[in-house]
Amino acid sequence: SPLHDFLQRLPKCEHHLHLEGALSPTLLFDLAKRNRITLPTDDEAFGSPDKLHTRYGRFTSLNDFLHYYYIGMSVLIHSHDFESLAWDYFQHAAVDGVHHAEVFFDPQAHIARGIPYTTVLDGFQAACQRAERELGITTELITCFLRHLPAADCLATFELEHVQDSYQSGVITGIGLDSSELGFPPQLFEEMYGKASEQGLRRTAHAGEEGPASFISSALDTLGIERIDHGIRLVEDAELMAKVAAQGTLLTVCPLSNVVLRCVPEIKDVPIRKFLDAGIKFSINSDDPAYFGGYILDNYCRVHEAFELHVNEWEGICRAGIEGSWCGQERKTQML
Ligand code: HPA
Ligand code: ZN
Repeated sequence: SPLHDFLQRLPKCEHHLHLEGALSPTLLFDLAKRNRITLPTDDEAFGSPDKLHTRYGRFTSLNDFLHYYYIGMSVLIHSHDFESLAWDYFQHAAVDGVHHAEVFFDPQAHIARGIPYTTVLDGFQAACQRAERELGITTELITCFLRHLPAADCLATFELEHVQDSYQSGVITGIGLDSSELGFPPQLFEEMYGKASEQGLRRTAHAGEEGPASFISSALDTLGIERIDHGIRLVEDAELMAKVAAQGTLLTVCPLSNVVLRCVPEIKDVPIRKFLDAGIKFSINSDDPAYFGGYILDNYCRVHEAFELHVNEWEGICRAGIEGSWCGQERKTQML
């Protein structure tokens, strides 16, 4: 359709994409076979890629999804597994008209399984270089920390020599905070974010996905974050929403994710119109596309169906995404 083509051609930036969340049931089963990984035998969902895909359509919460997300990762062993995973995502991103992608991964989830950080990073870096070379997609890599683990564990990972090397060399641009939100408030991670700031790293955190608006203000005040991942519960605090609009902090909204994880009943309940009316800057993203039934263009299309945005509004959303990116000014100017 003409609209699909218009949305496809917009200069899209993706800021909220977990590379581990791009693991399709097909790739999951292929890697399990190749790496001789036994999938759980007590869960019928692991009977076939089809069954697993069907189970993904029935998530009940963030934690229900995360259970499958962490099992899924168990098949990722070698550098080329991580490269295949990320390359699969970049090919989808290219088809969808993504110009620039700032992607997350979870070092702790792999290190805890005995996979060295350098194995993970080498694979992801190879895919990023190939994406720039063959697809013209520029990239930034962001290490996310798992908030359901003790803050001391996060800090210890952040301070690992190889992790620090990847920050100092500029291979990694910044840090994020993900996994279970309820029960794990942002202020637990103040020390790590303070150190990241001193080192000149960019900082973001998931806040206000399942957690209350007070987690957004705490993430801004105690962690000094420069972006807010999800942030949909910002609408519950008008004063805070006015502050976020005034300071121009970008929210990385993931509409399909919010519906599939039951943070909102339907796409029309994602506060897109409220954010536009309040002057909140936001980008639209896919989060974990292989788990949530759609990549970035599906998210754009679903938002358009629900809100019938004006051409100018779509162009404004993409401009905010470019300006809120963590690439250099030259690349932003190219995209604008
Ligand atoms: N929220 C929290 N943790 C995550 C997510 C998410 O949407 N995706 C992958 N890890
Ligand atoms: Zn996320």
